[in-house]
Amino acid sequence: MPSTSVNTNPSPIDVLILAAGLGTRMKSNLAKVLHKLDGRPLIAHVCRTALEIQPRRLFVVVGHQAGQVQSAVEAELGADQAFFVTQTAQLGTGDAVSAARDALAKTSSTVLILSGDVPLVRAETLRMLVEAHQQGTAACTILTIRLENPTGYGRIVRDEPGNFLKIVEQRDCNDDERQIREVNSGIYCFDTNKLFAALERVRPVNSQGEYYLTDVPAILKSEGDRLALFQHQDAREVSGINTRAELAEFENLLRRGTVRRLMSDGGVTFIDPAHSYVSGRARIGRDCIIHPDVHIEGDSVIGEACEIQHGSRIVNSRLGDRVTVKDHCLIVNSDIGSDCAVGPFAHLRFAVTMEERAAIGNFVEVKNSTIGRGTKSMHLTYLGDATIGEKTNVGAGTITCNYDGKRKHPTVIEDNVKIGSDTMLVAPVRVGRGSVTAAGSVVTEDVPPNTLVAGVPAKVKKKLKND
Ligand code: UD1
Ligand code: CA
Repeated sequence: MPSTSVNTNPSPIDVLILAAGLGTRMKSNLAKVLHKLDGRPLIAHVCRTALEIQPRRLFVVVGHQAGQVQSAVEAELGADQAFFVTQTAQLGTGDAVSAARDALAKTSSTVLILSGDVPLVRAETLRMLVEAHQQGTAACTILTIRLENPTGYGRIVRDEPGNFLKIVEQRDCNDDERQIREVNSGIYCFDTNKLFAALERVRPVNSQGEYYLTDVPAILKSEGDRLALFQHQDAREVSGINTRAELAEFENLLRRGTVRRLMSDGGVTFIDPAHSYVSGRARIGRDCIIHPDVHIEGDSVIGEACEIQHGSRIVNSRLGDRVTVKDHCLIVNSDIGSDCAVGPFAHLRFAVTMEERAAIGNFVEVKNSTIGRGTKSMHLTYLGDATIGEKTNVGAGTITCNYDGKRKHPTVIEDNVKIGSDTMLVAPVRVGRGSVTAAGSVVTEDVPPNTLVAGVPAKVKKKLKND
């Protein structure tokens, strides 16, 4: 396997992700980097990509809602993959980088700076930037893009021959500068020592009264250092998210890409691709048919030749092959064997295991239960904390009364049982193999195998000759 690391180069790479800001333009009580894209916080996307280039160390600057941002990073990467530095007051991107001075400035290295709100940047692009920086002699290499509409971005000002002069933020632009289409992506490589030396000279003299990281390149230049610009072609990839409208645009973009890939490479049929919502991490097998308004979220894995009908939502679940999910089902954290049928209007709330050829039907809610091979529960039923064997039929209106007001109790129904319509199973309780409960039974005591029970409370009516 070719090495994907950039660390074979002489100067080690540290990554610093800026994620302390409030995100004022989101108009949110939640820090911007915690808003979700494709089901994961923005910061999680950036951190994941950063790790892909195998830096020596990964730092995240946290401040606003620091604890939550840190948890989001740790949930994505696992603990101990990132170091956190705290920016106590959000005084600008330059100040955010200064917060990492003690952590970073001790050794000579290259620091790659990323923004927590630029979630789609690819590892490949970062590698190219780092390589360009390390092959040259510049103190700083800035990743730039050209935008049709550069509003909101820092403009890259060049001199006549085309060399870098300075970055001017949108709010500080004069009329000429505002026309410039080449902008700062907020992604840079710096010589670490030079960066921190120059940061000491940054002053908050701008319309926002903030310490701008974007002043550093011009300071370096004024001290005789070389500056390099690395223009990237795919503007979308390194665009930032500052507003809810941009967040929605990105969501759309990702979703369309995922659905397109599943059609072209995965052999999946989407009846209406524009109204199909599939997580980038989900897997869907060949010849599946996905109807409109279906959501497949998280790390769901769907086998081959399944049909997911209109309006169903499948979250972090596994489906075997040839499973049919009829209209309007919600399936969460569950495992459904091959040739099963679910729905319409079924709710597998969590931790449901359906073995092969089992069927859960209309208005049935199931949680934390196992439904055995070939077993059916087709109508108006609640099954909670139940273990049900093979080839059992659960009649309409059955309820596992699993909660006594304080604790949850288990119900066990063995193989080849017939639970009559409207049976109440007062847990903890067990129904032995081959037994039958009559319609309307309230089962308060264990039923031995091959026994018919009936009544309220249910009493043994007769032994059955099943085997
Ligand atoms: C920044 C750049 C701009 C560039 C754009 C690209 C500056 C001054 N401007 O603008 O040139 O075109 O990104 O997307 O750098 N943050 C902190 N602490 C702070 C302020 C911000 O950690 O005190 C973090 C934010 O959480 C965010 C990142 O830094 O992840 C960028 O901040 P943001 O306010 O979005 O900068 P822009 O205005 O987009
Ligand atoms: Ca931004």
